[in-house]
Amino acid sequence: MTAQADIGLVGLAVMGQNLALNIADHGYSIAVFNRTTATTHKFVDSDEAKGKAVIACDTMEDLVANLKTPRAIILMVKAGEPVDQQIAMLQPLLEEGDIIVDGGNSQFMDTRRRDEALTAAGLNFMGTGISGGEEGARNGPSIMPGGTAKAYSKVGPIFQAISAKVDGEACCVHIGTDGAGHFIKTTHNGIEYADMQMIAEVYHLMKNLLGMSTAETAEAFTAWNEGDLDSYLIEITADILGQIDQDTGQHIVDLILDRAGQKGTGQWTSVSALELGVPAPTIAEAVFARNITALKDERVAAEKILGKASPSFDGDKAAFLTDLRDALLASKICAYAQGFALMQAAKDEFGWDTDFGKVSMIWRGGCIIRARFLNRIKEAYDRDPGLKNLLLDPYFREVVEKGDGAWRRVVGTAIANGIPVAALGSALSYYDAYRTGRLWADLIQAQRDYFGAHTFERTDREGWFHREWMKN
Ligand code: 6PG
Repeated sequence: MTAQADIGLVGLAVMGQNLALNIADHGYSIAVFNRTTATTHKFVDSDEAKGKAVIACDTMEDLVANLKTPRAIILMVKAGEPVDQQIAMLQPLLEEGDIIVDGGNSQFMDTRRRDEALTAAGLNFMGTGISGGEEGARNGPSIMPGGTAKAYSKVGPIFQAISAKVDGEACCVHIGTDGAGHFIKTTHNGIEYADMQMIAEVYHLMKNLLGMSTAETAEAFTAWNEGDLDSYLIEITADILGQIDQDTGQHIVDLILDRAGQKGTGQWTSVSALELGVPAPTIAEAVFARNITALKDERVAAEKILGKASPSFDGDKAAFLTDLRDALLASKICAYAQGFALMQAAKDEFGWDTDFGKVSMIWRGGCIIRARFLNRIKEAYDRDPGLKNLLLDPYFREVVEKGDGAWRRVVGTAIANGIPVAALGSALSYYDAYRTGRLWADLIQAQRDYFGAHTFERTDREGWFHREWMKN
């Protein structure tokens, strides 16, 4: 058999199939393999794949034999154990210099472990974040490849070709070695969680405080999508809120059970933030907020015992709606600030050479958090590649300053009316804490020293001190 395929792909679930079609559409031949052979043939014989350079392989051996060298194989399987299983099957069949790409949402420490083992075996491993869901995979995702620059030079042209394009630029850039690509993808998802939660809180306030109908909320989000909030998540929110269920004639969103699912990337982002000591409260709150929605039965029971708040609003509704928009934008800036600060800390910790201006560029298209806003982040990193926090950039500083009053009115009114705003509120607290030179930690340090002799530093002299608190 003459090896003819440019690249291989393992795992023909929805993402794998769409990615394979996208690759074939860009003039590359692709060999595909799925654990269930029937799935492979059904896909290759489908109307979508027919006539394209997609080669069905019944075994891993077939797949490997069909690939030009150095071989590159993309794994599109569930994160966790399945990735290790596929690697274990592939590894003995590969030769030095071959490349395994993990295109799933893997935990970056797993990627580091796999990278170390495969590098020691003479192979290349590329933990690669791919965002954009089914649609993105088919028509152009945002791609965040990790691994060595040498391995990237082999598969980079294919990834660049199939990625989304914004202003003619590919939404794909080499992120850094070992786990960098998956870390950046995970953080993307953490920001996604925060963004979604803040939008959901604003929607909840529109309905429960302002008494807006679902149709009116759809109109508001549609209008907001024309301005600074212009983004994929606002766009789909407007679309979702406008959709009617055919069976009942009601807005479909009003019929959806309010219990959020999650697959773990938001949690990983929060755990990484905790491990690296980076404050990312809005991202973590978004995960906790999903967790509290999961307690559906408990919440329903608690409402009967504790009673729910009865919001009432007698202010200017149109003005408050504008406040909501400005509060959402300011909060969003804080969530991104937290995400970028986290990525910076990981870059420092793991020695990656990630360029955050480029990360914001490749998030402008294809991915779930794509937004007009990302251009501004790119500009901020152009102004200062060593930017410590987005809030310090002149553009973002001004937006937040302008939204300050609105933000406080929104969070204050929500709290006064008993409406939970975990993400919006935490973003505001983050901002307030970040801009306060002297915080409450004087007392925390004193308490720690009091009960545990943990010592403290003083503002008036150098060194570490312990006080015999109980002797005074
Ligand atoms: C993307 C998405 C994608 C996926 C998440 C959703 O970038 O394409 O983030 O990775 O939709 O897995 O995560 P949850 O199920 O945890 O909400």
